[in-house]
Amino acid sequence: MLRKALRRSMLAGTALLCGAVQAAEPPVHPETWPAAESPIGINPAVEARIDELLGRMNVEEKVGQVVQPEMKSVTPDDVRAYHIGSVENGGGSVPNGDKHASPEDWISMIDAYWEASVDVEEGAVRIPMMWATDAVHGHNNVYGATLFPHNIGLGAARDPDLVRRIGEATAKEVRALGMDWSFAPTLAVVRDDRWGRTYESYSENPEIVALYADAMVRGLQGEGETFLDPDHVVSTAKHYLGDGGTDGGRDQGDNPAPEARLRDFGGAGYPPAISAGTQAVMASFSSWQGTKLHAHKGLLTDVLKERMGFDGILFGDWNAHGQIPGCTNGNCPDALLAGLDMYNVPQDWKELHGNLVAQVEDGTIPMNRLDDAVRRILRVKFRAGTFDQGLPSSRPHAGDETLLGAPAHRAIAREAVRKSLVLLKNDAGVLPIEPTGRLLVAGAGADDIGKASGGWTLSWQGDDNTNEDFPGATSIWAGLRDAVEEAGGTAVFSADGSFKEKPDAAVVVFGEHPYAEFQGDQADVALHTENEESLQVLRALREAGVPTAAVLISGRPLYVNEQINAADAFVAAWLPGSEGAGVADVLLAAPGGAVRHDFNGKLSFSWPRRPGQTPLNVGDEGYDPQFAYGYGLTYEDDIMLGQLDEAEVPVDDAPPGVFLTEGRGRNGFALSIGDEQAPHIAVVGKRVATYGSESLTLTAIDRDRQEDAWAVRWSGRGEAWLELSAEEPIDLTREANGAMVLAVSMRLDVAPGGAVMLGVGGEDSVMLDVTDRVKRLPDGWSELRVPLRCFGENGAALDDVTTVLRLQTEHPLTIGLSDATIAETSASDSCPN
Ligand code: BGC
Ligand code: BGC
Repeated sequence: MLRKALRRSMLAGTALLCGAVQAAEPPVHPETWPAAESPIGINPAVEARIDELLGRMNVEEKVGQVVQPEMKSVTPDDVRAYHIGSVENGGGSVPNGDKHASPEDWISMIDAYWEASVDVEEGAVRIPMMWATDAVHGHNNVYGATLFPHNIGLGAARDPDLVRRIGEATAKEVRALGMDWSFAPTLAVVRDDRWGRTYESYSENPEIVALYADAMVRGLQGEGETFLDPDHVVSTAKHYLGDGGTDGGRDQGDNPAPEARLRDFGGAGYPPAISAGTQAVMASFSSWQGTKLHAHKGLLTDVLKERMGFDGILFGDWNAHGQIPGCTNGNCPDALLAGLDMYNVPQDWKELHGNLVAQVEDGTIPMNRLDDAVRRILRVKFRAGTFDQGLPSSRPHAGDETLLGAPAHRAIAREAVRKSLVLLKNDAGVLPIEPTGRLLVAGAGADDIGKASGGWTLSWQGDDNTNEDFPGATSIWAGLRDAVEEAGGTAVFSADGSFKEKPDAAVVVFGEHPYAEFQGDQADVALHTENEESLQVLRALREAGVPTAAVLISGRPLYVNEQINAADAFVAAWLPGSEGAGVADVLLAAPGGAVRHDFNGKLSFSWPRRPGQTPLNVGDEGYDPQFAYGYGLTYEDDIMLGQLDEAEVPVDDAPPGVFLTEGRGRNGFALSIGDEQAPHIAVVGKRVATYGSESLTLTAIDRDRQEDAWAVRWSGRGEAWLELSAEEPIDLTREANGAMVLAVSMRLDVAPGGAVMLGVGGEDSVMLDVTDRVKRLPDGWSELRVPLRCFGENGAALDDVTTVLRLQTEHPLTIGLSDATIAETSASDSCPN
């Protein structure tokens, strides 16, 4: 590996950066892994057709099959010129940037790409392209589609047949747009719920993941007679391997588990997915014991392909190959050599295409490895009927608008919502609610379909949607209202819980704002949005003597003991999606009080007792959850929960103006780091680095006490920043007027190699050049001080500050960092010039 990296960098005429070479790949023992067998089998006639095609393809044509660009960065002309074999639409990538794009918009766009792929000169090979998308909770990128509960809710439902039916319905909606391939299911076995992708996981328990892997693959792809027929699409088991077991729950982090544990937990879903016939597997962004999965030949080739007999496409994750030390997004033979068959290379595909062609020609990549990769891709295309299907718009179901959000699909989604609700508390028997009375529905989540749907919904983060973006969908409030009105009762909505006429009962819906991937990483398992607001509403209703049920919308189990205590009943609803009426189905009784649908959900993740109680998993030594794995009450149960312990909540009693003490964020502020690729990586654990080139690394160090400060190291390999920000903006105008300064306690370890910028603000912080200030810091710990007005005078909106500190450079620099506060001015303070 070292030699290869050296050779490449010599070719490129640049010096090898020290530290860019990763440790020797940790060895694996494939014979200790379970074998699997695809039910499809190798068809000699198909293989012979592939031989024939391979024999006629030149290197450019072959390489065209192994790179998959993203639609925003590739045109139909590119597809024709570079013989591109597949295209994806990434999260939130929609025709003409219009998230309300119609099926017609999608299909005519896909048609154009497809036509280019078969527009070949006479006698040349004709290989039609495939279109891939992230249909991870229904066809979630598409306006009007059915949105099923995210996987965490399905895990609670404990119903593989339901999961299979969801796969079938999703496949039909994908087909309605003329697409071929979905990047689902996620088979992560998430063991640390700080991870922002916890909701994409069915369970912390590998058994549930294994059961559902089988069900979802069969649902999406069909089986036997129906295997990849016009009702089904190619599925992708992801993210291979160990993505739910990273240290600190860090997205794209490192999984330190011993091999047997990696196999038994993270690995559990793959043999069943392969035995159910999955035609694609996506490699993980993460590393195992320090080696990026995309470079791990032992796991990619020896375990997955040889031991588990996977004969389909081993696909990459979004630019993940570029994170292999020595690689860039546009240059990375290592991944193909390790066993990857197709690169997920959204933007830099042209450069990668050129480099791969050159690397095959100069022998860096043996032709038989490229041929094997192409063979696998063509094999899947033959199995999927890609060669025989015509223009996407001409295929069965294509353009059938009645399939998007079809009533039959919505009915399955509503059933899934019903089955996934977990009842944590029902002390006063508030539930089920008699529907003939007066019901108050409150909370910021009650009438918000976007919030109920979470990330991967119309956009990547899913945080920019309103109810108007979901035609045909039902919010939780609308579902409750309709059911109450139908029963002859009265339903009133008031987000803040205020009322004129006292209700007979109330339902309060609140929870997490949508997020995806690393944007959802947290330093703990507490609720960080609507925490105070929900408590106020619940406590006011308690005060007023209104029997109240709370409904939590969240992508993970959260410490919410205060809310549980303040409510009479408490329901975990996860991320239910577009069919909010499923909540009313269970919470409301029939007139007269009879149960219509009982609670069915059981926790597939252990529920924490404290905000910092993570990792927390069934089977752990000293397992002490608030609600154990498998917990979930029904209407039959007669259990009084009583008052839960709130005493252990660390209260943030920092005085105003204190944002960082002893390396920890205060007053709602938290540290994050970022670069262009991943702008906001939460600082959790003892070491955090930006992805890929590690342009910025934070490591816990000791100043006066154990780990009370950070070593912040910029490597000079690209621009990166450190930020101290909060959800809720603060107003610093008064402080600025009062001539107060931003004081940052730091120590200079390695002097800056170029400009260092310090910023205050929010989305767009105003950045001031503080290079000289930093250079002139005395030895040891001292303060970097800048009057707040200096930022205001340069245009910072000091009345609306969410970032009190942003330090940024693209040059080498190492500092210690421990505190950041607003301090009184002194005579020597001035603006940096
Ligand atoms: C995610 C994958 C997803 C891919 C394609 C990546 O960032 O990790 O789960 O399938 O993007 O959009
Ligand atoms: C894309 C997602 C992708 C992500 C990876 C986003 O811009 O829309 O599909 O998963 O980048 O970082």
